[in-house]
Amino acid sequence: MQSIAVGSDHAGYPLKEKIKEFLLSKGYRVLDFGAQSTDSTDYPLFAREVCLSLQRGEAQKGILVCGTGIGMSVVANKFKGIRAALCLNEYMARMSRKHNDANVLCLGSRVVGQELALSIVEAWLSTDFEGGRHGERVELIKRMEGMV
Ligand code: RB5
Repeated sequence: MQSIAVGSDHAGYPLKEKIKEFLLSKGYRVLDFGAQSTDSTDYPLFAREVCLSLQRGEAQKGILVCGTGIGMSVVANKFKGIRAALCLNEYMARMSRKHNDANVLCLGSRVVGQELALSIVEAWLSTDFEGGRHGERVELIKRMEGMV
């Protein structure tokens, strides 16, 4: 079973906890990089920890939650090898896996309700990358990052 790194700021904390419960109930190993409360804090710090965990190979995927999901996605996409997708619905979640091989899912706790967020997580985790022409496009991204 895959290991999933999760992180949030204060705004995303309650949803991050629900997602963690959901992942554990499905048998995933969860690495929680905080936050651990709704006390005001800074989203870039948590995005960084989740992305570093993926880069170290400890987790195969990451899930980041802030108020809108925007801040988390901005930060996560600065890390080499990270393809972070901010998804507002299951369609975006599936396409971010099929076409973009997204390895980080970003969610906005002030934008999507809890039930929708969990459906997005489920759709994202259960969809595989299609490869083929999309693989060539992801390779282009990697080349731009100086990875290959
Ligand atoms: C915190 O108020 C909020 O700015 C943060 O959670 C996030 O939405 C940033 O993008």
